[in-house]
Amino acid sequence: MTRYFVVTGHKAATTGDFKLDDIAGGAGRLDILVRCVNSVFFLSHDIRKDAEAFLVLEGGDDAPKTVRFSGESLRYLNPDERSTSSLIRNALMKPIPPGEEVKSSPGVFVSRMSFSDVISELSERGSLVYLKEDGGDCRECDLPDNPIFVLGDNKDLTEEEEDVILAKSPAKLSIGPNSLHADHCIVVIHNELDRRHAGNSGSV
Ligand SMILES: C[S@@+](CC[C@H](N)C(=O)[O-])C[C@H]1O[C@@H](n2cnc3c(N)ncnc32)[C@H](O)[C@@H]1O
Repeated sequence: MTRYFVVTGHKAATTGDFKLDDIAGGAGRLDILVRCVNSVFFLSHDIRKDAEAFLVLEGGDDAPKTVRFSGESLRYLNPDERSTSSLIRNALMKPIPPGEEVKSSPGVFVSRMSFSDVISELSERGSLVYLKEDGGDCRECDLPDNPIFVLGDNKDLTEEEEDVILAKSPAKLSIGPNSLHADHCIVVIHNELDRRHAGNSGSV
């Protein structure tokens, strides 16, 4: 089973010319996406191998781009935000031939996929789960095999993005009564799955 996470970065940089100490400003709140990557992959002393993160970057002059992190082959991911930002920046500096996904470093890939492209491609691989505060309580629902969780950044999905996902009839689930940061939602949903599958999804 693979756990997929798609996070939209509505203003996130799509070129690699931002400063690593300005990811919350000049890079269009890339800090939120970086924290999401850390939440998707980090256990205390391990990396979740059965997870993939899709960061859909929609800001700047070269939008859209999608940076994909794959736990199976991921290397050089460290818990600090600066080094994760650096992996993303390196990916954004790669030339991308039309229609291709390019490997930037082990487990990190970049393409020109839009939100709609990512949702269409992933919906072939699993079941969409739209995480939203007004969804049904996830504790009262089964979570599907190969779930594809879709979240907003500091803003909810736009109306157009919501139309794309609702057209695929996803499960729409809430993880609790409060509106949480996207990276915290990821930790909570991993925990729900871990408890149900009694598992450590890392390699230990
Ligand atoms: C910081 S929130 C976005 C803005 C927030 N909805 C607001 O009104 O301030 C980031 C994303 O996390 C997800 N999210 C936050 N709280 C949630 C909850 N309780 N249940 C499910 N998803 C949640 C949603 O996908 C949301 O778009």
